[in-house]
Amino acid sequence: MLHLRDNAYNVKFYRPLNLKSTLHLTLFLYKKPYILYVFLMKNIAQLENIAFKTFIMPADLNFHGTLFGGAMLAYLDKAGAIVAQKRCKSRVFLVAMNKSEFIKPARLNDAITIYAVVSKVGNTSMTVTMEAWREEPITGEIALSAKSEAVYVAIDENLKPCPVDRG
Ligand SMILES: CC(C)(COP(=O)(O)OP(=O)(O)OC[C@H]1O[C@@H](n2cnc3c(N)ncnc32)[C@H](O)[C@@H]1OP(=O)(O)O)[C@@H](O)C(=O)NCCC(=O)NCCS
Repeated sequence: MLHLRDNAYNVKFYRPLNLKSTLHLTLFLYKKPYILYVFLMKNIAQLENIAFKTFIMPADLNFHGTLFGGAMLAYLDKAGAIVAQKRCKSRVFLVAMNKSEFIKPARLNDAITIYAVVSKVGNTSMTVTMEAWREEPITGEIALSAKSEAVYVAIDENLKPCPVDRG
């Protein structure tokens, strides 16, 4: 199964530039190494699908000593909101969090990387697919810890739904 952290998955969402745009871009970036550097870093970050990274603190634990499910949902929600806001260029409200699954428990001091991608766009809504991967910092062992699919709605300054693509 293909995961959000796999490069092959990212290719599905990466739209390469056509020949004309590539030529224009090459002419524009000629002898401008700083702009080229920023452009590459921005695009590489987009390709990686990483919304953010964090690590588990004692306050996030449940009584089993593993990450509390509610804390994991909060991480996933934050990651989803980051990519949804980037897509619609406005604030967003979470309206639904569907199909959340907890697969492997994450433990104290584990690093957590949340991968998120906008997988569907409606009129005012966006569906975001998210995965949380835990990494044991000493051994480097990684595992898919949780995944979810959430729906965000683009909102205007009056907190009312507005189109994702406003032209
Ligand atoms: C977000 C909110 C403004 C939407 O208002 P609304 O009157 O339901 O708006 P609409 O019925 O026009 O729905 C807006 C979009 O959300 C989608 N939607 C609404 N409820 C949904 C649900 N339960 N599941 C999936 N999509 C949903 C609709 O299909 C529509 O999508 P589209 O425009 O792409 O077709 C309102 O529901 C709200 O304020 N909810 C509380 C949000 C909140 O407090 N979140 C937690 C903190 S971020």
